[in-house]
Amino acid sequence: MSDFTGKVVLVTGAASGMGQTTAVAFARHGARVMVADVNEAGGAETVARIQAAGGTAAFQRTNVSNPEQVAALVEATVATFGRLDVAMNNAAILGPWTAIADHATADIHAVFDINVKGVVFGMRQQLAQFLKQGDGGVIINVASVQGYRVVFPGSSLYAASKSAVIALTKAAALEYGAHNIRVVGIAPGPIDTPMLRSATTDDGSMIKSLVPLHTIGTGDDIAEAALWLASPAARYVTGAVLPVDGGFLAP
Ligand SMILES: NC(=O)c1ccc[n+]([C@@H]2O[C@H](COP(=O)([O-])OP(=O)(O)OC[C@H]3O[C@@H](n4cnc5c(N)ncnc54)[C@H](O)[C@@H]3O)[C@@H](O)[C@H]2O)c1
Repeated sequence: MSDFTGKVVLVTGAASGMGQTTAVAFARHGARVMVADVNEAGGAETVARIQAAGGTAAFQRTNVSNPEQVAALVEATVATFGRLDVAMNNAAILGPWTAIADHATADIHAVFDINVKGVVFGMRQQLAQFLKQGDGGVIINVASVQGYRVVFPGSSLYAASKSAVIALTKAAALEYGAHNIRVVGIAPGPIDTPMLRSATTDDGSMIKSLVPLHTIGTGDDIAEAALWLASPAARYVTGAVLPVDGGFLAP
């Protein structure tokens, strides 16, 4: 079992879905957790869940597409908990499901501002903090199977944004490996969260039919992967993006 006692973990998009589940899981394994999100009520709920279980957490309202707020988030993490050991860049939006010619300019900006620039702004601050501390660190970027396979017409912005997250993960792994900083990713398949529910129009049968395991994953499936990737057990893993997808990418 992974033990994160004494470690400080930052999770963006931790007010909901797999970010919330993962933040709670890190705290259950001893980490002090900084919960970041634009959703204040959900962020407070995550902190309350952690504290109710005897853990330690704080919330910082952060829009990951705003570089000043992202810098303030890492500063607040260090001011509150003393350091940063693991950062999970998980916040993202699905954006509209629309053919390319029909996209509104504001939607194009929003998907790339949050899903791509949000990860760049996050990594920039997290890496700077790791370098300052001088004893390594782990970044986990949440991509998607759709970053590898464009399956659904209308998914162009989201799929492209997640391909960018995969490339950014590999590039950062290359650049910072010499500092014992590991940069890894998770490519979730369909996971039962508010985001997936918002995009599902039937009872889930269509999605399940695309998954060799014929089931939809849970936030716990992602949390387990994140715990392992962040742990010393994965010390030789960097630049890898782990599909947690019920086999979606197997064909
Ligand atoms: N659910 C799935 O099936 C699935 C599949 C593949 C990848 N993903 C990815 O998993 C991650 C988590 O998604 P989820 O399914 O838990 O969704 P979710 O919608 O439940 O959670 C996303 C969280 O991100 C927050 N967020 C959105 N924009 C933000 C911003 N600008 N700044 C800060 N926080 C912001 C939201 O408030 C929300 O709390 C995302 O990166 C998503 O793309 C999800």
